[in-house]
Amino acid sequence: NKFATILAGGGGTRFWPLSRQELPKQLLNISGNDIMLNDTIQRFNGVIPMENTIVVTNRSQAVLLESIMHTSVQPGNILAEPVAKNTAASILLAALFIEKHHGDSLMVVFPSDHHITEEDKFKKTLDHACQIAIETGKLVTIGIKPTFPSTGYGYISCQNEAFMSKPCSVYEVAEFVEKPNFAKAQSYLSSGHYLWNSGMFIWKTSSILDNFKRFLPRLYKTMLPLMAYMGTSQEVEMINAIYPSLQNISIDYGILERCDEVVVIEGDFGWNDIGSWDALGAIFPPDVDGNIVKANYVGIETRNSIIYGEIRLITTLGIDGLIIADTKDALLICSKEKAQDVKEIVAMLKEKG
Ligand code: GDD
Ligand code: MG
Repeated sequence: NKFATILAGGGGTRFWPLSRQELPKQLLNISGNDIMLNDTIQRFNGVIPMENTIVVTNRSQAVLLESIMHTSVQPGNILAEPVAKNTAASILLAALFIEKHHGDSLMVVFPSDHHITEEDKFKKTLDHACQIAIETGKLVTIGIKPTFPSTGYGYISCQNEAFMSKPCSVYEVAEFVEKPNFAKAQSYLSSGHYLWNSGMFIWKTSSILDNFKRFLPRLYKTMLPLMAYMGTSQEVEMINAIYPSLQNISIDYGILERCDEVVVIEGDFGWNDIGSWDALGAIFPPDVDGNIVKANYVGIETRNSIIYGEIRLITTLGIDGLIIADTKDALLICSKEKAQDVKEIVAMLKEKG
């Protein structure tokens, strides 16, 4: 039994003002193809049965999500969280759900904010990852060759030898470092021994539950009783009751960094985390001046900028390296270097109410 668990409860605050509390990044159509969530669901068609798709999201987004989500997802497979408690809790919720209804199964965890250009290659890698997770019982992650010293990703150092190399290289993980500082990221990049963690995980539910028991025992003990209520009329009430007190930690800090039973399979399929405005360059090739424009726009001497507009005409003159994002009710002007910090604006707005 194979199940896909899609994590779709993040805020995507670095995409403000396009993303909002009620309209987070995963519900945006950034690629011009479909909303990111539907692109994600489509992507593993053929590897995992479509009816085995589980989506974990925030209750405030669940209704909207149900209305625009790919029709193959069954309403019973949407797990709504009353408050966001980060990815460890979401993954544990889904693992308990799968165990309860289907017993020990293969679980594939997908973030919903990725863009992948070579889907066939992706499917082959995923298929291979599933085999390894079943055969070894280890936690499998897909690694990507880093291209710049990003501080927004996890880094995985690989034991030198691939213990399997066909059709993809598979390595034992020597060290997993979540979101290192810039100096460390630079040294990892130049060492050539590190891969980025793509945030896609493949494991058996029994394996990940053992690791929750070991590394996040408090979270595990608090959430385990939920299993008895799953599928009953008290399920929502119980989830509401326990969620506010849960430990807020990501799976990367909570388990991946601590566990030594992790293997990484190298993937090369045109992967990008469309995490912030500057990442748009990965999906829309810039024009001759280095600009990416999605707007009614006229400009002179404008270089290396990202210009997004929904309604009015945007004009620029003599600018370099700016992000301009104009929506119905808010305008962002930001230097490209500060793209990761747009979340601070959102935090400030929240504070001010
Ligand atoms: N349901 C739910 N609840 N989903 C959540 C929550 C939550 O509380 N928090 C985050 N998510 C979802 C996001 O919507 C996203 O799809 C996914 O979980 C990952 O969360 P991000 O917040 O986007 O993580 P990240 O990008 O900073 O870091 C992770 O991904 C990187 C690659 O994209 C880590 O795994 C890094 O190690 C990795 O390099
Ligand atoms: Mg992300």
